[in-house]
Amino acid sequence: MTRSLPWSWYSDPGVLRLEQEQIFAHSWQYAGHTGQVAEPGSFVATRIGRLPAIVVRDREGDLRAFLNVCRHRGSLVCTGEGRRETLQCPYHAWTYGFDGALLSAPRADREPDFDRAGLGLLPLSVEAWGPFVFVNPDADASPLRDFLGELPALLAEGGVDLDSLSFHSRAEGEYDANWKVCTENFLECYHCSVAHPSFSKAIDVAADRYDLETRPGLLSQFGAPRDGGGGVYDATGWIGRGQFHLLFPNTVVNVMPGQPNLSIGPIVPLSWHRTRRFLDYFFAPDAGNAWIADYLELDRQVGVEDRELVERVHAGMAAGPVDHGVLLGRSERLIAEFQSRLTDALGS
Ligand code: FES
Ligand SMILES: [Fe+2]
Repeated sequence: MTRSLPWSWYSDPGVLRLEQEQIFAHSWQYAGHTGQVAEPGSFVATRIGRLPAIVVRDREGDLRAFLNVCRHRGSLVCTGEGRRETLQCPYHAWTYGFDGALLSAPRADREPDFDRAGLGLLPLSVEAWGPFVFVNPDADASPLRDFLGELPALLAEGGVDLDSLSFHSRAEGEYDANWKVCTENFLECYHCSVAHPSFSKAIDVAADRYDLETRPGLLSQFGAPRDGGGGVYDATGWIGRGQFHLLFPNTVVNVMPGQPNLSIGPIVPLSWHRTRRFLDYFFAPDAGNAWIADYLELDRQVGVEDRELVERVHAGMAAGPVDHGVLLGRSERLIAEFQSRLTDALGS
């Protein structure tokens, strides 16, 4: 057995600040899908870790991303999503182009030292992978493909053709738990047979049938259907086995066996004790509404069960007297790996 990270790391605002600076400020994170920024002039406001961000499609058709913070007095420039001619701040109408440049500011001509050139929106890195848009707060980030590593190949081998998928819906939720509690819960299926009866009927979660694999930047689980889905949903079809990946630090990618499907989303720390998640669901057109409904019902059920689990874990960890836990060397080895990558990234 391995000793876990100190539990104080889950309730210390200083650790979160370090994670923000050392990890999230330089990591690619899932921000939304290309359907939200399909047309030139379309934009979507999102969050990358703690940072408010805007992703836009400029007039030339290129994706761009900016910090969603007005350079005047700091208002969020945009909320929601839509289409615009310019990015205008609602506070004093400073107006930015889709290249981030400050185009105009009322009364600026009365200020002799007004430095318009130095007051553009701060650029972030943005790239699309199939229908998925990723943003990295670091404007000089290394390419997204380096971050994705072997994930595109694993999905292709598993029968997932990204070009055949289209966006279906988004599930969102906030949790009274540290983001690492949510992430670590995702990284093991030791709890599945205890806490997820429907999932465990549909997927074979036995220790020797459910595979855990680590690759650079990628922590992966693979599970085959049990009895064709055990009556929970029809797990037979083009996709032979499930794949559940964490792109370190906080993007999850899930594929369930059955019809072509994929869900993807970030685990975003809002504070040391509160976490926001969203998950975008994609399906191929031939998946069929009845199949999709069964699948989503299973996923919803698992989500309800996981909420209860992570909130209980967070409450226990934050209570104080116990200062660390233990990890099973085999069944929880992805958590151990996550904790070691986290420790390396924090440089301590
Ligand atoms: S804060 Fe944006 S225009 Fe004043
Ligand atoms: Fe779970």
